[in-house]
Amino acid sequence: MKVNAEIRPGEIWPDDRGVHINAHGGGVLRCGDTFYWFGEHKADTTSSAMVGVTCYSSKDLEHWTYRGVALKVSDTPGSDIERGCILERPKVIYNKKTKKYVMWFHLELKGKGYAAARYGVAVADKTEGPYTFVRSGRVNPKIWPVNLANPDTKALTEAMNRKPELQWWTPEWMEYIKQGMFTWRDFDGGQMARDQTVYVDDDGKAYHIYSSEENLTLQIAELNDDYTAHTGRYVRVAPGGQNEAPAIFKYNGTYWMITSGCTGWAPNKARMFKAKSIWGPWEQLPTPCIGPDADKTFGGQSTYVLTLDGKQGKFVFMADIWRPEHPSDARYIWLPIKFRDGVPVIEWTDEWNIVSLLSD
Ligand code: GAL
Repeated sequence: MKVNAEIRPGEIWPDDRGVHINAHGGGVLRCGDTFYWFGEHKADTTSSAMVGVTCYSSKDLEHWTYRGVALKVSDTPGSDIERGCILERPKVIYNKKTKKYVMWFHLELKGKGYAAARYGVAVADKTEGPYTFVRSGRVNPKIWPVNLANPDTKALTEAMNRKPELQWWTPEWMEYIKQGMFTWRDFDGGQMARDQTVYVDDDGKAYHIYSSEENLTLQIAELNDDYTAHTGRYVRVAPGGQNEAPAIFKYNGTYWMITSGCTGWAPNKARMFKAKSIWGPWEQLPTPCIGPDADKTFGGQSTYVLTLDGKQGKFVFMADIWRPEHPSDARYIWLPIKFRDGVPVIEWTDEWNIVSLLSD
């Protein structure tokens, strides 16, 4: 183990080849003493997926070796993951029972903007891949969330039919959103899934957490035993709250979730939620960020929280500083999560040594 492993948030971060790491909207999976970082390969002039999901490995979290493209976009016309699609926020989890690595991501079909709002799944036998694309789709068609079991579908249908007279910015419209107007609108075809992460709990159960209902409402959906599909059990979180970029961790029996507002590539103020059960209720708290530019999440947007030692409270907050004009030049913010009176805080620092989080 190196004595120093310096993290410089927002700076160019060269890999073993001296090339700025290209793994945006990503997440990190630990396998023994090796960390694997998966993220979106971004091109120089477009945010569409021209390459796929990249993989890097490291033992000290500062020095990363490029391991290649873990999931390649396809050259087959009409493929769900055809080159030029939008493939965002990939996260990989390991399934102990099947011994497979399972990648989840947000997928938008080529040429359709952000209309498809699908999840995508791919699996591999080895951490770095190659990953085989399994399927893309909407979440849990024809199933109600457990915390919206008996909605007044007649009233919701009437409200939907009052378009355009019932305008989207009115309190009345928001009231119908909270009551599940879009959950109902998408009931048959399945729930929308955009910004996302996946989380494996201590008991081995895994969850897909995603921005749904036109990015107005988060949903948390349980995954099946092999982590490649939903079980049908899911909840809505913060209906109408407009949260995206979810990143989750657990400390002292409490689930914490950091999210952003919905302003596209432009940074906004992070939000934080906590719950005693993954199924909620989730309570909203102020932003965990403090220091200069904290109200803009230091110019970034959350993507993942890396758990280094969940018992001792060693976590790393990971965020992206997007550069939509030059996507491959987007930067990474990694900062330690500290706890003040039991509440997570994230403070800006230009440089820090991650080794103290790695060793006991
Ligand atoms: C952001 C989202 C990114 C990307 C972007 C597109 O809000 O977090 O993953 O989808 O919008 O504008």
